[in-house]
Amino acid sequence: MPKKKIMLVFGTRPEGIKMCPLVNELKSRQDYFETVVCVTGQHREMLDQVLRVFNVKPDYDLNIMKAGQTLFDITCDVLLKIKGVLEKETPDVVLVHGDTSTSFAAALACFYLQIPVGHVEAGLRTRNLYSPWPEEFNRQAVDIITKYHFAPTEQSKQNLLNEQKPAEGIYVTGNTGIDALKTTVQEDYTHEALEWAAGSRLILVTAHRRENLGAPMHSMFRAIRRVMEEHPDVKAIYPIHMNPQVRKAAHAELDGCDRLRIIEPLEVLDFHNFLARCHLVLTDSGGIQEEAPGLGKPVLVMRDTTERPEGVAAGTLRLVGTSEEIIYNAFTELLESQDAYDAMSKASNPYGDGHASERIADALKG
Ligand code: UD1
Ligand code: UDP
Repeated sequence: MPKKKIMLVFGTRPEGIKMCPLVNELKSRQDYFETVVCVTGQHREMLDQVLRVFNVKPDYDLNIMKAGQTLFDITCDVLLKIKGVLEKETPDVVLVHGDTSTSFAAALACFYLQIPVGHVEAGLRTRNLYSPWPEEFNRQAVDIITKYHFAPTEQSKQNLLNEQKPAEGIYVTGNTGIDALKTTVQEDYTHEALEWAAGSRLILVTAHRRENLGAPMHSMFRAIRRVMEEHPDVKAIYPIHMNPQVRKAAHAELDGCDRLRIIEPLEVLDFHNFLARCHLVLTDSGGIQEEAPGLGKPVLVMRDTTERPEGVAAGTLRLVGTSEEIIYNAFTELLESQDAYDAMSKASNPYGDGHASERIADALKG
């Protein structure tokens, strides 16, 4: 039987973390697959960190990132630059991930060239096109084009069925992010920043959502600062996103807060080990909402909506929006009420057993 040529296209940190385990799984099945990796470089340093950790060397790098890039820049640059790669490689299937502009533009390019698309992490929905923005549009648009839907959970499969997607094209696989998580957390891990926080309850903070840039992000940071200043037994580590707008807001609101350290983005192995050791998380991230429930770490999700209702149902995630008062109250309660903390800190993993990449490879083998 001729080998199937599978091309994986991704460009940001979280796509890298969730696609690299699949790249390595497909590469381990050389008898069945020819695996081609095309990165768009929508993220540069933050993607390169991930490629290093998983030892993945792209065959193509579109290298599109520019400082302050707009949605127009990303979409147009990916669309135009990927055309030649797709025409040269003529893959049997192109795999894209999740909801980024890289994924949307790459899927659109495949549609124009009539190349079948497989969507890893298909079927997540908030049903609000502006939250998260532009991700909810991206993921819905990719699913219109997709032939093979790799849904992480039964709920995401149901979302696709509700949109009349054919059942025979939907595979429930678990989330490939859990594949990554299973290989990173180590018992004997140490790090200088963790030593600084030893003896205190450690709070982990991240923030980057486009719809939170500006006033909402300032409110989020002000709430965090107020709580930190009122609780001397707590320290916070904030590995900051490289977006200059995020950095400006964070430094404006958080500089001079002694027990909160802003550090550069952590490599994923480090981040997962910080997550495993922290007391709780404040974030607007998507991927962290999947990782934290498995580790039993309460997450205050600083967003108005979530496409990860499984973690909310499990009790680990609580949506708190971006209002200063609501975040302040929820964060304070979690620090001061053991009952509130215990109710959220039970480990539960709705996102699979760490074998999602194998299931996707099996499905592609046909
Ligand atoms: C993107 C995705 C978002 C995902 C997030 C993960 C879209 C529209 N958004 O948003 O879904 O949750 O990645 O982090 O696809 N930058 C660097 N170096 C890097 C990465 C970013 O300098 O390695 C800076 C650049 O100035 C860049 C800016 O960050 O212009 C924003 O990056 P961009 O990919 O446009 O948006 P994100 O907010 O990261
Ligand atoms: N992460 C990381 N280093 C950091 C912060 C996060 O490796 O300093 C990982 C985290 O474990 C998760 C992913 O990055 O797997 C989440 O990325 P991000 O929040 O940027 O994007 P989203 O998931 O919201 O799309």
